[in-house]
Amino acid sequence: MQEPVLQVEDLHVTFHTDLGTTPAVRGLSYALPKGKILAVVGESGSGKTVQALAILNLLPSTAQVTGGKILYQGKNLLALKNAQLRRIRGKKIAMIFQDPGASLNPVLTIGEQLCETLHAHEKISKPTARKRAAELLSQVGIQDAEKRLDEYPFQFSGGMCQRVMIAMALALHPDVLIADEPTTALDVTVQAQILKLMKDLQRQNGMSVIFITHNLAVAAQVADEVLVLYAGQCMEHAPAAELFKQPFHPYTQGLLNSLASVHKKVEKLPAIAGNPPRPGEVLPGCPFAPRCAHAQARCFEQCPPLYTNSFRRTRCFLQEGK
Ligand SMILES: Nc1ncnc2c1ncn2[C@@H]1O[C@H](COP(=O)(O)OP(=O)(O)OP(=O)(O)O)[C@@H](O)[C@H]1O
Ligand SMILES: [Mg+2]
Repeated sequence: MQEPVLQVEDLHVTFHTDLGTTPAVRGLSYALPKGKILAVVGESGSGKTVQALAILNLLPSTAQVTGGKILYQGKNLLALKNAQLRRIRGKKIAMIFQDPGASLNPVLTIGEQLCETLHAHEKISKPTARKRAAELLSQVGIQDAEKRLDEYPFQFSGGMCQRVMIAMALALHPDVLIADEPTTALDVTVQAQILKLMKDLQRQNGMSVIFITHNLAVAAQVADEVLVLYAGQCMEHAPAAELFKQPFHPYTQGLLNSLASVHKKVEKLPAIAGNPPRPGEVLPGCPFAPRCAHAQARCFEQCPPLYTNSFRRTRCFLQEGK
């Protein structure tokens, strides 16, 4: 096994709102291998964003980490003071978000924003920062970079804005990049270009990436490993090739089947019958049991553990004894 660059250990995150207490992440553990892309996949509300925000201490004030550790370079990020974390955030662990338009400041030029990022962490002269900013823009495939530094976000298309966000995230050569649905807001052709760009840059820079997506087809294009989240829990975690060839968990099988039917242009089926548990609803057994064709009586009473089999982990009683 490759040395992990980041380790999430038994992470629990709970929201406290007027509507009640909602456990959003429940006992999540994984290791991000060095130089690899781990896709975190799951339906809306499964906890993908919340677990990522916990890594960088960016959770909203209504959320609380109620347990676990996040280890980076031997340190538990959850125990660091804000000043210490600020040195890691952006420089060592960078994050890009779904909506590139909303992440850029509309009243500053692209160049000003890139230079600001560079200046925030490094002591460099203005001309050096500008030169670096232009290099970064060309690196993410934006032509006429020098000229475009003086343009404003509204002069860039959605795909170009996302390229700028990637350039900003790469500006400080982070070890870890967390990309939360970086291509969801883009049309399919641009999405494919951005995915290719991310994969190329990841290889060139030897970065490790946590790639968050609700779309297994997107995960298939980029990931080395896939972790399937459901109701805040890991249901399955496996090397991508193996997971796509033979998914073990009935939930992953359902996700893959619905994908296959879309590809074959069969009339679009509902992804998987039924709905995930409502926020705040914690079932005594497996959270997927009510939607699972293989569920037995005990699946409703007891939550299965994560069964580990060589490099794969599966939370399903069907894996017991295998
Ligand atoms: N601001 C909030 N207030 C209360 N509960 C929240 C809030 N944000 C998230 N949650 C809870 O945390 C759960 C996980 O949310 P999260 O945003 O991580 O889902 P996600 O997997 O990223 O979904 P999506 O694909 O829609 O982005 C939600 O189901 C909800 O119960
Ligand atoms: Mg999300």
